[in-house]
Amino acid sequence: MQTTQPIRIDINGIMQETVGPRGLTREDLTTLPIAAAFEGLKAKRGQMRWRELPHNQTEIVADLEATAADIRAKFENFVVLGIGGSALGPIAVHQALCHLRYNELPAAKRGGPRLYVEDNVDPERMAALLDVIDIEKTMFNVITKSGSTSETMSQLLIITDLLRKKLGEDISTHIIATTDAEKGNLIKIAGREGWKTFYVPDGVGGRFSELCPVGLLAAAVCGVDIRALLVGAAAMDARSQSENLFQNPACLLAAAQVASMRKGCNIHVLMPYADGLKYVSDWYAQLWAESLGKRYGNDGSEIYAGQTPVKALGVTDQHSQVQLYTEGPFDKVITFLGVDEYRTTTPIPAGYLDIPDVSFLCGHTQNELIAAEQAATQYAVGKSGHMYSVITLPVLSAHTLGQLLYMFEVMTAFAGELLQLNAFDQPGVEEGKNATYALLGKPGYDAMRAELAAAPAPNPAYII
Ligand code: PA5
Repeated sequence: MQTTQPIRIDINGIMQETVGPRGLTREDLTTLPIAAAFEGLKAKRGQMRWRELPHNQTEIVADLEATAADIRAKFENFVVLGIGGSALGPIAVHQALCHLRYNELPAAKRGGPRLYVEDNVDPERMAALLDVIDIEKTMFNVITKSGSTSETMSQLLIITDLLRKKLGEDISTHIIATTDAEKGNLIKIAGREGWKTFYVPDGVGGRFSELCPVGLLAAAVCGVDIRALLVGAAAMDARSQSENLFQNPACLLAAAQVASMRKGCNIHVLMPYADGLKYVSDWYAQLWAESLGKRYGNDGSEIYAGQTPVKALGVTDQHSQVQLYTEGPFDKVITFLGVDEYRTTTPIPAGYLDIPDVSFLCGHTQNELIAAEQAATQYAVGKSGHMYSVITLPVLSAHTLGQLLYMFEVMTAFAGELLQLNAFDQPGVEEGKNATYALLGKPGYDAMRAELAAAPAPNPAYII
């Protein structure tokens, strides 16, 4: 089902008119450095090359579609080897736009290979994958922007070794690399091995890379209309041009979040009411956390900024987290993410008519039930004085998902401008990566190794 209708946002639940004194006033929004943030966004557009992805990939999309068609015809499995921004987007889009039990469908109904996204180095996980796939019938897409991430490289070493044992030296029919065109080790390896390669463009950081070949290849392989995804993103780009805060969904949401942070709301819960959108929360969590969680501001001062993203799923987490959201501390904003129309209707049949507490459900649909539960939870959260906003997709389609992902990306960039920090680096992640290199003996990390060795030993009194 496709729709080109715009997604809607509603921040009434953040405003004092709805939630009372703990909410925001219009002034809380308008007194933020909005004009400067719009200026910053405009001035840096040239560096934010992810903003052009909806517009500049005509040839790449044709190549991706042709490659995907070939893979669909030849392979039973498509495995992504990658982590962070090289994995969360493919997972989110697949969950949103493919059958919810895609891998379990018979091949004829699936129409494409099964998809596995391997974004961990738990040894049991790799062993489990190898138990369920036949690697001779599998295409591997190794994705790493930097071309050096240990987790991904370890997976690549395991898979290339296994493939060579089965296929001999030339394994180029079974591996596609997605990486930077010049930097890193993967591009060197891919060139030497003659692997088909797609590129992560310069200025497109990992967490902003879903709409380039990082995410588009896996999506096309699974039958997603990647053109519609990009057209949706382009539509949101058009809406993101407005410098009237109240006409610009991405920037209004960013302003609402930043203003709420100023009121002590350092937690942002994203709660989709659709299983299809469940992993958009994971993707968003990385985007929001890694972009805004920063020690230093643009002026070099210590700011320790950020808002902790929390993933929840409606209605499932009504039965685990909503108690905290209605009666817990006023330290969070909840964004409900809903759809007007689900892609199927599931009626609730008549039964147990003698038990009114059950039979009131009869004649309704699960569609009505989930919509009622979302509305009711919004009401309860608002009544308790906690702030919430609502994002609604007319229907979950490639077009609306493209709008949503692009909106979250611009929202994050705009929040970075409002908070006056660099939303595009991740020095805290690099620190951990470097410490891992040192622990595993990578050349050039002697100083870090010495630093780790000099760290105080744990106090045994606290280990029981
Ligand atoms: O957003 C980012 O840049 C990071 O989270 C990366 O996506 C993650 O660390 C993986 O990096 P790479 O794609 O270079 O392997």
